[in-house]
Amino acid sequence: EKGGWPNFMSKEISEEPEAVANTLLGRVTDGLVQLDELAELDQTLRDIDRVTIVACGTAAYAGMVGKYAVEQWARVPVEVELAHEFRYREPVLSERTLVVSISQSGETMDTLMAVKYAAEHGAKTLSICNTQGATIPRESDAVLYTHAGPEVAVASTKAFVAQITALYLFGLHLARLRASLDERAHRDLVTELTDVPAKIDLVLDTSERISELAHWMADTRSVLFLGRHVGYPVALEGALKLKELAYIHAEGFAAGELKHGPIALIEPGQIVFVVVPSPRDERSLHAKVVSNIQEIRARGARVIAIAEQGDAAVLPFADEVIQIPLAGPFFEPMLAVVPLHIFARDLATAKGLDVDQPRNLAKSVTVE
Ligand code: M6R
Repeated sequence: EKGGWPNFMSKEISEEPEAVANTLLGRVTDGLVQLDELAELDQTLRDIDRVTIVACGTAAYAGMVGKYAVEQWARVPVEVELAHEFRYREPVLSERTLVVSISQSGETMDTLMAVKYAAEHGAKTLSICNTQGATIPRESDAVLYTHAGPEVAVASTKAFVAQITALYLFGLHLARLRASLDERAHRDLVTELTDVPAKIDLVLDTSERISELAHWMADTRSVLFLGRHVGYPVALEGALKLKELAYIHAEGFAAGELKHGPIALIEPGQIVFVVVPSPRDERSLHAKVVSNIQEIRARGARVIAIAEQGDAAVLPFADEVIQIPLAGPFFEPMLAVVPLHIFARDLATAKGLDVDQPRNLAKSVTVE
């Protein structure tokens, strides 16, 4: 079943390109996103004034990535909430709120209860799910399936990139219904999305260096991850994977938050992964993150940068640079996360741990 791979997680990382490609299949017509499965919801989608995403763990991080894109393209406010926090704070809901749940298994109790709460309080519900016929999609008004294929390893990998793909499809569909994006921009984004699988393949082909680093770091006790914009949830995902697989204390931060506290953690020898935005980005986020890297280095920490190919500005300051192919800002997370998945797997392997079945965890958390 593992198809020659030493564990399911390795197999599933290798399937990340297909997870994206299969989730796109049949959903793009003549260069435009068309989601026939949401047809019944189309009028609602024209009328909503807010989107609330509910999910847990890795699925919630995919939701955070999706928030940036859906807001940008469809010009609808989007919030992301951990499903277990949602229904205990009397959230403000109306028939103009769309609650989007994200769940690989479709059985996560926290997420299911959030969906039920939303439906009972008048919101419309859309499920993004990887498991056909699971409970959460059955309880929702509509479903947009991710087609990552069965995910067996407890650590979610290919489902994450498939969830981002589904959210982007949803964002583009919503933008089309609400005429918030011009057609040229829509087409360019679809092209970028379609190019992602081949780019992930390139990242996988050049993953040797990250594996070496992981093996050298078997004794590491703490790792920090920094990212900005859509790189921020990637940092959170990198940290979660390291906690759950390698039992190492790890934290993800928004890079801009560094000076508001976390910089006090930076000391000689501390390992810090930094997800660097593209230097081609117009919002000068690249320069800001490079300056964060300098601040970290000045305090003696070791920086592993995940940066776009040809990004010369990071080279003098980072101890290691893991290169990813050129992509538009919204597509970098799907590439940058791959080395972080590999890093966590290989560090856990170096420590002799069970990669597929980490201690204390279950694949679907069906209790509250
Ligand atoms: O099945 P779900 O997507 O609802 O699961 C949500 C989380 O429990 C899950 O993503 C968890 O955080 C993973 N073990 C992370 O790798």
